[in-house]
Amino acid sequence: MSQVAHAKPNAHFVDHLIELSAENSVLTTCDIYSDSGIKLLMRGVEITPHLRERLLQHRLTQPLERCLEVSDAVNAEELSKLVRQIAEERPELSALCGLGAGLTGTEGRSDKRWWSLAYLRSVPLDSVSLLLLTMGRRNNGGPLRHAVLVTLIALGLGRRLRVPEDTLCHLTTAGLLHDVGELYIDPQTLDPNHHVTIREWRGIVAHPVVGFKLLNEVGGVGAEPARAVLEHHERWDGSGYPRGVLGKDTSLAGHLLATAEMIAGLLNKSGVDTRRAGIALKALSPGLSPEVLAALGESLSQTQGSHAHATLPEVAVVAAALEQTARLLVQVDQALTLHRGDSDNALVQAFAHEIQERFNLIKAAFLRTGPGSLPLADVTALLHEPDAEELVQETADVCDEIRWRLRELTRTAVMRVAHMPEYCQPEASGLLTAL
Ligand SMILES: [Fe+2]
Ligand SMILES: [Fe+2]
Repeated sequence: MSQVAHAKPNAHFVDHLIELSAENSVLTTCDIYSDSGIKLLMRGVEITPHLRERLLQHRLTQPLERCLEVSDAVNAEELSKLVRQIAEERPELSALCGLGAGLTGTEGRSDKRWWSLAYLRSVPLDSVSLLLLTMGRRNNGGPLRHAVLVTLIALGLGRRLRVPEDTLCHLTTAGLLHDVGELYIDPQTLDPNHHVTIREWRGIVAHPVVGFKLLNEVGGVGAEPARAVLEHHERWDGSGYPRGVLGKDTSLAGHLLATAEMIAGLLNKSGVDTRRAGIALKALSPGLSPEVLAALGESLSQTQGSHAHATLPEVAVVAAALEQTARLLVQVDQALTLHRGDSDNALVQAFAHEIQERFNLIKAAFLRTGPGSLPLADVTALLHEPDAEELVQETADVCDEIRWRLRELTRTAVMRVAHMPEYCQPEASGLLTAL
């Protein structure tokens, strides 16, 4: 981590910085010294690619992030434009995101249709946050757009639950910055097509902690948004990460942000319609508080009748995904059965039991769905029938959901093993291979 004084800057952060400097001017705002007293850069120097090695070779007397200023940083106008785009492209999300129908007219906080946009426009951000947020323009602005969507959903839920005004303000800051910790991870590990190793998972599951430290120790946006960022992957039932704490021990802003993150993840894959919302709610319910679940159900019910404009997936692709999902469930089941009870270590036994219980929940969720409740051959035949559009979409959604939950189970299991005493780890790691 580069945000601690007397640490070397993080190589992935520096790479993003160099990439950013190709588009925006990034200047040093103070003299930068190594911890052995060498002046590495003077104030007012422009960051360029040839400085990369110099920045990476030395421990610095203060965090690099605090010594930089970016020109043409993300501003209120750009955030407004992104909100408009989301509202125009996904009008079915208006109830969920606190965006009234028809985004025209005054953009003041007094205008009810624009209330969530008003929070985004007035969010207070320091220079560190602005730099990190502006780096979200990478990958064609994907990370920044995701941050805005998560913020809008969190605000929509918060408003529905009538949370206090200051919580909405903290949510806005935290929502925009919730994934800044990802800037410190090898970008390849975040590619959805990359097969993540257990070692790489450790880096991924640490990104909320990295984000928390950046906001709390390097930047100055306040303790509440930083805490919400730390908690944005925790779950109500304690199945989240990085700490696996119960929802009652997390902040309201953190839980709302975690909920928004889950929903945004689902929306990424396809649109919201009644069926999709039903499947999502069933799958997500153990991870959500009853109040948030009720608010979410209320928001999603208002999207009924507004179908997503996602195109129907190809039947052959969906049939293959179903076969793969069913096979995966059988394989994990068999592997867990093989490992069960072969340890004398009580901690490892408890861990095996926990993983088995969580896996059973996923399997039960699959069996409760339409495609999961019938023999594979029957569903495959039905998928190829004419007029099977509904079943095709449902099957695609179910497969996405189940595989997503299996990935989450792996993440949780890796975290549990990482926190076990060292003498348990070889045996417990053996169990991870089952996942
Ligand atoms: Fe996120
Ligand atoms: Fe995240």
